[in-house]
Amino acid sequence: QAVTMEKMVAFCKRRGFVYQSSEIYGGLRSSYDYGPLGVEMKRNIKEEWWRSTVHMRDDVVGLDAAIIMHPKVWEASGHTATFNDMLVESRTSKRRYRADHLIEDATGIDAEGLSPEELTKIIQEDDRVKDPVDGGRDFAPVRPFNLMFETYMGPVKSDENLAYLRPETAQGIFVNFKNVTQTSRVKVPFGIAQQGKSFRNEITPGNFIFRTREFEQMEMEFFVEPGTDEEWHEYWIEERWNWYLNLGIREENLRRYEHPKEKLSHYSKRTVDIEYNYPFAGWSELEGVANRTDYDLKQHAEHSGENLEYIDQTTNNRYYPYVIEPAVGPDRIMLAFLMDAYTEEEVNGEERTVLKLHPRIAPTKAAVFPLSKKQPVSTIARELYDDLKGDYRLFYDDSGSIGRRYRRQDEAGTPFCVTVDFDTIEDKQVTIRDRDTLKQERIPIKAVRDRLKDLISG
Ligand code: GAP
Repeated sequence: QAVTMEKMVAFCKRRGFVYQSSEIYGGLRSSYDYGPLGVEMKRNIKEEWWRSTVHMRDDVVGLDAAIIMHPKVWEASGHTATFNDMLVESRTSKRRYRADHLIEDATGIDAEGLSPEELTKIIQEDDRVKDPVDGGRDFAPVRPFNLMFETYMGPVKSDENLAYLRPETAQGIFVNFKNVTQTSRVKVPFGIAQQGKSFRNEITPGNFIFRTREFEQMEMEFFVEPGTDEEWHEYWIEERWNWYLNLGIREENLRRYEHPKEKLSHYSKRTVDIEYNYPFAGWSELEGVANRTDYDLKQHAEHSGENLEYIDQTTNNRYYPYVIEPAVGPDRIMLAFLMDAYTEEEVNGEERTVLKLHPRIAPTKAAVFPLSKKQPVSTIARELYDDLKGDYRLFYDDSGSIGRRYRRQDEAGTPFCVTVDFDTIEDKQVTIRDRDTLKQERIPIKAVRDRLKDLISG
């Protein structure tokens, strides 16, 4: 039985995964804060992505570019002119909606990509389209709304000081293409990876952390020789698909979605999404893997006047590489992992809630419990805890019955609990309990570090 969104939101708050932003002031719609468990989990997701995308490969390097970039970047990339959603305002409720979503929800017509005039016509003529708030049908004409967040650089609010918060991390990579090729020893095919905040003034954010106005992205631009792009595209779709499976996502909840040709973004030759079957919304985009061709590098070359061609040192060939881009948000991944892992089950006649997260993703890797607060049991447990806590997030708990302590860790997704009991004093052994199988093994204290290391790397 899939968990509902209401239940997940309440669970995330109760266990300190995610809170509504500025809650004491009534909350800010579409902004969320990550609590003590949430921040650990999100860091693990980002760390796993970085490890597999950058550290484990010889052909990808990292980058951390600024959020505020030269405004000309967004002219070159096409964002100033075309990064729009179609906005429609109800004259009665004063609510604003995305016109294509309003039409789709009311009629089932796929309205994405239609012009403002076409959308306005449908809204005026199809009386199934109503304001979801008051049922009214008096709408202003549809107009494009640019999603970039505006700000001003410096103390003067003037047109020439207008700047934007980046709507994607990708452009920071393209504008540094020359820097990276000149200062590191990368050779095509190679990738540049980046993680960081992006901002979009979404008209209708929603579904908790699925779509927010401030979010994080993890993007990698992989530069290849034209003609090899289709093969590399397939390769990266496969790699990213396997990344989710290796971290324990259930395969039946993943599928590929091929963007129809007529709906591709202006820069894309082909885009395949990895979709997740979110219980609240059905199949929705988790990650996009796009073939961006040589569009971005050529645009930046033209707008900046810099030659951004790649020179193959062995053949002396010059060309603009094609780009394969896997792009995803860790917030969206986190929601998918939480939904996938959340389980309510009966154990020995008792209900338990357990997050069956992969050990690498779990916020806390292990908990250490002294069976009693008495000496020397608690001292031995404390020493073990102090010895291991530098390796990863560990939790020490000596309050309440062992059963209750297990339940708390099950809910937090902690995969292993290590208990020090009275026998430990004599046999110098402890018990490790597995969250999912509930099996317990008894091993020497001295072997705990290596054993946990094996178990966590899964
Ligand atoms: N550079 C390409 C690009 O930005 P995108 O499909 O617009 O493509 C990539 O975004 C990924 O970023 C999405 O698949 C999603 O995981 C995440 N993302 C985009 N908008 C988001 C939002 N408003 N809230 C949370 N995550 C978002």
